Amino acid sequence: MNGKSSRSDQDGHEFDLSDREFEQLKKIVSEQTGIVMTDAKRNMVYGRLARRLRALKIDSFTRYIQLIEKDENELVNFINSVTTNLTAFFREKHHFEYLHDKLLPQLVANNQQSRKIRIWSAGCSTGEEPYSLAITVKRFFESYPGWDVTILATDIDTNVIAKAASGIYTEDRIEGLSPELVKRWFVKGKGGKIGMVKVRRELQEIIHFDQLNLLQPWPTQASFDLLFCRNVVIYFDKPTKVKLFEKYADVLASKGHLFIGHSETLFQISDRFDALGGTIYQKKV
Ligand SMILES: C[S@@+](CC[C@H](N)C(=O)[O-])C[C@H]1O[C@@H](n2cnc3c(N)ncnc32)[C@H](O)[C@@H]1O
Repeated sequence: MNGKSSRSDQDGHEFDLSDREFEQLKKIVSEQTGIVMTDAKRNMVYGRLARRLRALKIDSFTRYIQLIEKDENELVNFINSVTTNLTAFFREKHHFEYLHDKLLPQLVANNQQSRKIRIWSAGCSTGEEPYSLAITVKRFFESYPGWDVTILATDIDTNVIAKAASGIYTEDRIEGLSPELVKRWFVKGKGGKIGMVKVRRELQEIIHFDQLNLLQPWPTQASFDLLFCRNVVIYFDKPTKVKLFEKYADVLASKGHLFIGHSETLFQISDRFDALGGTIYQKKV
């Protein structure tokens, strides 16, 4: 026995992915992104990477691993292949309601002097989250002109950031939204673009999209009033989460708010926030 499971023989796979190679891939993913891949992800990883091997005309995972260890561009493709980008407009709707009904009125009262509000959508995937934030903010500020509200939207995956910045979606992505909201904030495609929608330019104007690996140094010195990091750290190990939420506390303004995903918690991760319920947290003074 050489520890190899010959998946090509057993499962009819085109390439052989040995246990050792899978462990090496897991190590690179965890070092680069913080994501801890379980064995349950093996088939998914195989499927996504087999496409890369084919495209590059590489005949083994060992050669592919050698390539990503020395080629930055392929490392980016590799990371793009292993991220999970599931998202939706107004996902976890109660967060946007809370923002509109409670937090924006509070921020208008507290930030009177600067008339600025800074929001970060960290791990924004294909953009549905920052556009939902932009719609919420724009709706609210229709009655308060003269405010400067900006949203920083970042993700490690260069493909999703490019899609997010384009603001173009298939119509099925906005199926659950009310007709009024669709009419106000989206433009339906015509001719060759039938079946597509584009977000209105005024939403794009307040969002800055950028590629950013949360595990690497952050170029931003900004102090954020609101930080959305939802459904991003689910696969991170505990020490990575501890470090990340410490840094989030540092870049949040005093009493700033943090929103995390419905299955996530800061319990035993950070004591720098008060839990307000509904996976909404406020930075302690
Ligand atoms: C499941 S999506 C969540 C999207 C959105 N926040 C939501 O809740 O709908 C998770 C996103 O986190 C990104 N991500 C994973 N690890 C990351 C890292 N180390 N730095 C930045 N983004 C990361 C992935 O690329 C992916 O787009």
